[in-house]
Amino acid sequence: MSDAAPPRPPLDSTSLHGLTGGRVSYDVEVVAAAPSTNALAAARAQGGAAEGLVVTAEHQTAGRGRLDRTWETPDRAALTLSVVLRPDVEPALWPWLPLLVGVSVARSLRAVGAAAELKWPNDVLLDGRKVCGILVERVESTDGPAAVAGIGINVSTTAEELPIEAATSLALAGLDVDRTALLATLLRTLGETYTGWLADPAALRAAYADLCATVPGRRVRVELPDGTSVTGTTRDIAESGGLVVATERGDMTVNAGDVVHLRTAEE
Ligand code: BTN
Repeated sequence: MSDAAPPRPPLDSTSLHGLTGGRVSYDVEVVAAAPSTNALAAARAQGGAAEGLVVTAEHQTAGRGRLDRTWETPDRAALTLSVVLRPDVEPALWPWLPLLVGVSVARSLRAVGAAAELKWPNDVLLDGRKVCGILVERVESTDGPAAVAGIGINVSTTAEELPIEAATSLALAGLDVDRTALLATLLRTLGETYTGWLADPAALRAAYADLCATVPGRRVRVELPDGTSVTGTTRDIAESGGLVVATERGDMTVNAGDVVHLRTAEE
């Protein structure tokens, strides 16, 4: 018999007023339901929303995942939010944004006692299972390009509610975390990490690698967007933010794909 879902209090929007993190002043909008907070925040950004706009939904009905997948979470069981950022950096640095968001989430989860790690590029894992997914999308607007940083963290989701076996939640890892407090910690940490990166972009590479379970020396299979895959041993994170994998044909740098951490028996 499955356990009933735990009581799930709503987000307390009043305690999210006036939040800041580094250079970012947040304007947090809490909605009961939305198809996708990324879609909502992207529309706002296209309309000129300033950096720091946050849209968070108690429930998403058509959440978007990476590589055209969907993202499903029950009402009030997860944190699902999107943050508008307007980074004034050269185009070559934009691919670091998803990794930067991953670092911010991992740091925030560690702050509440979860031993979070990253799987390249930006899945956040707890005990080897995915607890958070991140989707960063770029939108053009008359005020210049904006990044919409979408974050979904499974907070009180039960095993029965998780869409895939390889997923987990903070509750399943034994952590009873208040969503409003976690959101405040996350926004502060994201703002600080982002502001530090704008000042010194190169420093993020080492910070990312420190939190990343994929590098170095890990046997992996990388499933590429064109349907092919490569198997090898990870070496490093490239300057571009890509994953450097030593394969039978030599080193290759992967810039997009899904990583599977392999045990020797799985090859
Ligand atoms: C992934 O596939 O791992 C990325 C999932 C990203 C989900 C979040 S939930 C909030 C935001 N809004 C969306 O529609 N997607 C992102």
